[in-house]
Amino acid sequence: MNNFTFHVPTEIIFGRGTEAKVAEAVKHHGGRRVFIVYGGGSVKKSGLLERVEKTLEEAGLPYAEFGGVKPNPLMSKAREGVHEAAKFGADLILAVGGGSVIDTAKAIAHGAANLDTDIAEFWAKKKPVTRSLPIGVVLTISAAGSETSDSAVLTNDETGKKGGINIEFNRPAFAIMDPELTYTLPRKQLAAGIADIMMHTIDRYFTHETGNNLTDRVAEALLKNVIKFGKIAMSNHKDYEAMSEIMWSGSVSHCGFTSLGRTMDFGVHKLAHELSARYDATHGETLTTMWGSWARYMYQDAPERFAEYATNVWGVTVGTPEERSRAGIRLTEEYWQSLGLPLSFTELGIGVKDDDEIEYLADKLTDGGKTTVGAFHKIDKPTAIAIYSMANH
Ligand code: NZQ
Ligand code: ZN
Repeated sequence: MNNFTFHVPTEIIFGRGTEAKVAEAVKHHGGRRVFIVYGGGSVKKSGLLERVEKTLEEAGLPYAEFGGVKPNPLMSKAREGVHEAAKFGADLILAVGGGSVIDTAKAIAHGAANLDTDIAEFWAKKKPVTRSLPIGVVLTISAAGSETSDSAVLTNDETGKKGGINIEFNRPAFAIMDPELTYTLPRKQLAAGIADIMMHTIDRYFTHETGNNLTDRVAEALLKNVIKFGKIAMSNHKDYEAMSEIMWSGSVSHCGFTSLGRTMDFGVHKLAHELSARYDATHGETLTTMWGSWARYMYQDAPERFAEYATNVWGVTVGTPEERSRAGIRLTEEYWQSLGLPLSFTELGIGVKDDDEIEYLADKLTDGGKTTVGAFHKIDKPTAIAIYSMANH
């Protein structure tokens, strides 16, 4: 096991009706003027925003609203939020929504605490974030894991690049997680979220630093849990137990716990981000579109590892390591298919691309062939072209 530091400071307030505790949590984390960030309106429609605001009012906490954050959130929108938050004199940024809203709230927190720096400089890693404002979350979708993660992902609408920064300031101060708030999710978002949660663990599982260790066993248990409850949730989105298990798995999956002591890969996430940046495709769906192609390209690098995945997650016990590897890949894809998730460009709804477009994606991913992504098997431009081509049908 490699050396590691693990520090997740986020206070988790989990369960039915916990949004009523939002004012208490804000005060506990030093907030006196709250800047509320939300998305395209689901929290208005459900009445959640109104309930949150009422709680703040009753506690005597002034607040300002900033809505309209879209999935695959844009840097320009976050920049607008920075100005608004500064004008209001916010000292805590409260995200009411999912990953897109939370990541925008993170950017606003960093920007509002550093008004002399354009937030794009942070995302381009030209400047480090050395201070920020506390971030609170009221989570409405189990998916990105941003409520506990050290990551924030934005699309820079000037460069067309979607990417994240991983810093400790991205960890929210608190996260209110009421599974009942996810009952209103459209099926597509519920399914995409289940896939994203699985992929946060799968993108950490494929590493060469293996052995008989706790991190692997936790990862496998988490995956089995999400697979089981994902099926139940898709047939009854008001099943409290299923929605709870999925919500908590989402946080555990991306807080870093399933990669302790080893290098993370995240190559599939990076391949997928280019599809979101270029075609505004849903994050979880871009992951299922790319993973099978990535896995089929990679499994011969480490058939024993893919076979371990197949056996411990999917119960495949017969065959050579190569045969078990292929069975594990197939079963993963069949599961996603059963949730209505796409496995190819066509199923993702973006159509078959020509060679120039595939090269464009590979160029964006590897900065024109100058860099590589992933750690399990470094993906350079030719490899990216090969993997995108495998999904291009
Ligand atoms: O915008 P509204 O109207 O709220 O609707 C949203 C949005 O259309 C809807 N929704 C959310 N909760 C709902 C609901 N609709 C009905 N009822 C509810 N309770 O769902 C849609 C998707 O929302 P979004 O916030 O985009 O979903 P998700 O949590 O999947 O976040 C995806 C974003 O997070 C990034 C992704 O790349 C993507 O941009 N990620 C962030 C990570 C992180 N910060 O750690 C890690 C991930 O790997 C990921 O990259
Ligand atoms: Zn993800």
